[in-house]
Amino acid sequence: MPFNTALTRKLGIRIPVVQGGMQWVGYAEMAAAVSNAGGLGIITALTQPSPEDLRKEIQRCRSMTSNPFAVNLTLLPAMVPPDYGAYAKVVLDEGIRIVETAGNSPGPIIKQLKEATPPCVILHKCTSIRHAMSAVKLGVDFLSIDGFECAGHVGETDITNFILLSRARQTMPVPFIASGGFADGQGLAAALSLGAEGINMGTRFMATVEAPIHQNIKQSIVDAQETDTELVLRRWKNTSRLFKNKVTEQAVKIEKESTTGKFEEVGPLVSGKRGRQVFLNGDPDYGVWTAGQVIGLIHDIPTCEDLLARIETEAIDTLSKASSLIVDEQPPADIAGKKIGEKSDPRDEGTSIAKSKL
Ligand SMILES: Cc1cc2nc3c(=O)[nH]c(=O)nc-3n(C[C@H](O)[C@H](O)[C@H](O)COP(=O)(O)O)c2cc1C
Repeated sequence: MPFNTALTRKLGIRIPVVQGGMQWVGYAEMAAAVSNAGGLGIITALTQPSPEDLRKEIQRCRSMTSNPFAVNLTLLPAMVPPDYGAYAKVVLDEGIRIVETAGNSPGPIIKQLKEATPPCVILHKCTSIRHAMSAVKLGVDFLSIDGFECAGHVGETDITNFILLSRARQTMPVPFIASGGFADGQGLAAALSLGAEGINMGTRFMATVEAPIHQNIKQSIVDAQETDTELVLRRWKNTSRLFKNKVTEQAVKIEKESTTGKFEEVGPLVSGKRGRQVFLNGDPDYGVWTAGQVIGLIHDIPTCEDLLARIETEAIDTLSKASSLIVDEQPPADIAGKKIGEKSDPRDEGTSIAKSKL
């Protein structure tokens, strides 16, 4: 049964689930698998060393799916920033018209993408209402509201999705999707109930058959609990939620104890190059790698097809169950009838009271 939300209508997808941009994970195989399963897959532009490599990756993805897919452009501070304009030009040349943007000062890139014919649909990811409001002024179509639970750059305000999503619902003049902490259909149903038009997931998609990372890392996610992430780089206002391991522990120790406060002291530990090796060599302690608190909710490694089918069924069941909680008349109290701790289905209340009175 297809969903009908602003997201599914705008993008032409069946299930309102987006696979967020993921450095060293968001290759064509990942994006195509999610799009083939009815969600929106996203290629991460900066996993490609040059704009021309991105062009090839987009073409590779197109050979694997005829469904819509998108490209993520993440704008992060760097000593030598990548040529974002050139990456965006390739996106447009290759006919991509859905782009996830994230990071700092996205104005010029959003302008470039919006001036195309036809203009791109922009999903902009942000971790605070203040940044969301700035993105709205830049003309984005959807906000992807990333709560403090999320993997990666959590921002500096530490507001979890229970508050952030409702703030978005109360204040944002454009539709939004919920990001951070989602892994199942119950989560999708909750997000829709809070006013979102869908969900964005990162960590959950790492533990799928098609994710192009080492099996050991997928298994580490399955084995982990929600307490197994660590925040690093807060001292430099670049807070990131990472999988807790020997390297993050070392980095956090230096961060706390350094008297100079020089980034160079932790730089080599948190380097992206070492992180990339983790996904290739399967050693979870080789470097830092990104994961969200949702690792505590991930217990298997399904195909994207099975995962999205399950999420769809769970969300439909959850939403139907929620509507069955509303009845024509208030049922009688069952203080006398039920033992403490005995589960009751609200739809059976009348029957159980009647039986207990016999
Ligand atoms: C391994 C990994 C790499 C990520 N890299 C990026 C990135 O390059 N750009 C970006 O915008 N978000 C990145 N993210 C964040 C995701 O797109 C998404 O917002 C986040 O994972 C949502 O939280 P969740 O993991 O709880 O689902 C990354 C997440 C993961 C797990």
